[in-house]
Amino acid sequence: MKRIATIVLLGLAPIAAFAQSAVPEKAAACAACHGEGGAKPIAPNYPILAGQYANYLAQALNEYRSGGRKNPVMAAQAATLTDADIQVLAQYFSEQEGPLYTPSLGDAAAQN
Ligand code: HEC
Repeated sequence: MKRIATIVLLGLAPIAAFAQSAVPEKAAACAACHGEGGAKPIAPNYPILAGQYANYLAQALNEYRSGGRKNPVMAAQAATLTDADIQVLAQYFSEQEGPLYTPSLGDAAAQN
């Protein structure tokens, strides 16, 4: 019986781990323009965030907040984010499935 309980508990471990990496609270606001999980924005000039490098996303958010990258819409969005929010959001969006990919050198050569 004890063995069964252990097996059941081990079976639940991945579910608990998944629950911890839930959608960050502040990501809900982003979905209004960037789409759910940042994967399907509402317009072509609204970038896809899903699958982008986390350090790129964090850099962009830091720069919108500091004014180094100028965009009135995103400046307003980034103004209220803390450093911790930026890290969490950048990590979250980088882990989402989306259509972004990094072309190989072969792809680049084929276009020339
Ligand atoms: C009202 C619409 C709107 C909302 C809400 C919004 N964004 Fe944006 N976001 C934009 C637009 C438009 C751009 C493109 C701005 C530019 O050209 O620099 C952008 C750009 C970005 C970029 C740069 C992406 C790149 O490829 O360079 C990041 C990162 C980003 N947003 C993150 C977020 C996050 C995180 C949130 C939620 C806290 C959010 N955005 C909420 C409209 C929005």
